[in-house]
Amino acid sequence: MARITAGVTASHIPAIAAAIDQGKTRDAYWAPLFQGFEFSKRWIAEHRPDVIFLVYNDHATAFTPEIIPTFAIGCAERFTPADEGWGPRPVPVVQGYPEFASHLAQALIQADFDLTIVNRMDVDHGLTVPLSLMFGEPAAWPCRVIPFPVNVIQYPPPSGRRCYQLGRALRRAVELFDEDLNVHVWGTGGMSHQLQGKRAGLINREFDARFMDLIVHDPERAAQIPHIEYVREAGSEAIELVMWLIMRGALAEQVHEVYRFYHVPASNTAVGHLILENPAGGKP
Ligand code: DHB
Ligand code: FE
Repeated sequence: MARITAGVTASHIPAIAAAIDQGKTRDAYWAPLFQGFEFSKRWIAEHRPDVIFLVYNDHATAFTPEIIPTFAIGCAERFTPADEGWGPRPVPVVQGYPEFASHLAQALIQADFDLTIVNRMDVDHGLTVPLSLMFGEPAAWPCRVIPFPVNVIQYPPPSGRRCYQLGRALRRAVELFDEDLNVHVWGTGGMSHQLQGKRAGLINREFDARFMDLIVHDPERAAQIPHIEYVREAGSEAIELVMWLIMRGALAEQVHEVYRFYHVPASNTAVGHLILENPAGGKP
């Protein structure tokens, strides 16, 4: 059967993509950030997933303000990097997994999570930046990816509690798939960030550290954090952090924290990154 072995969280700041694509990763400004992912690249080479269930948000790229699904699942064969205004990123096309994605769509919808099914979609920095941070610059991404966009762009986003419950249902849905697959669940976006208005550039290191601790050790409590607290404490775009709760809900109650990295600044935001392993290789 398929099993979830690990969860990864990572910010997806588009300036990171520009630094990679323009060969600036060794510049003084960027080097400390990319050094922080050296361990992660070695780790994932040794724990290579067959498929990543990649929770991210679309930034009005694939979904225009006309149609905004709360939770969507990418069921296509492939997903092309989007043109976000500077041409598409020069990164490989993302290979999907239609059979597994369709199974998960069925299991989750039957478990009362009303997903939007997406059979054609381009993917923006929300999805490609975490892949670049973890895998570097390969000619092809080394595994398949099921994109799972969550609306955190237009009010109202889903609650952290709902995201956590969805993660729990995802774990059960994965275990119902009768193929021997090593599955990772990634929760991307965050941490502190506010991109506009008077508080642009707001960073709250204490909130970020506390949130990472809660995600690892007390996710039930993290799931109770209301929207207003993310926004007040860590900035309007920190609401992206509810996506980490889908990842965490999909893991066991007790997890092994393999790695943690936190870095400020990248663009005018904070970068947070965790690698969490399930006990016993995710076997129930
Ligand atoms: C920026 C954009 C994002 O989507 C994000 O999550 C963080 C930073 C930016 O434009 O700097
Ligand atoms: Fe974002």
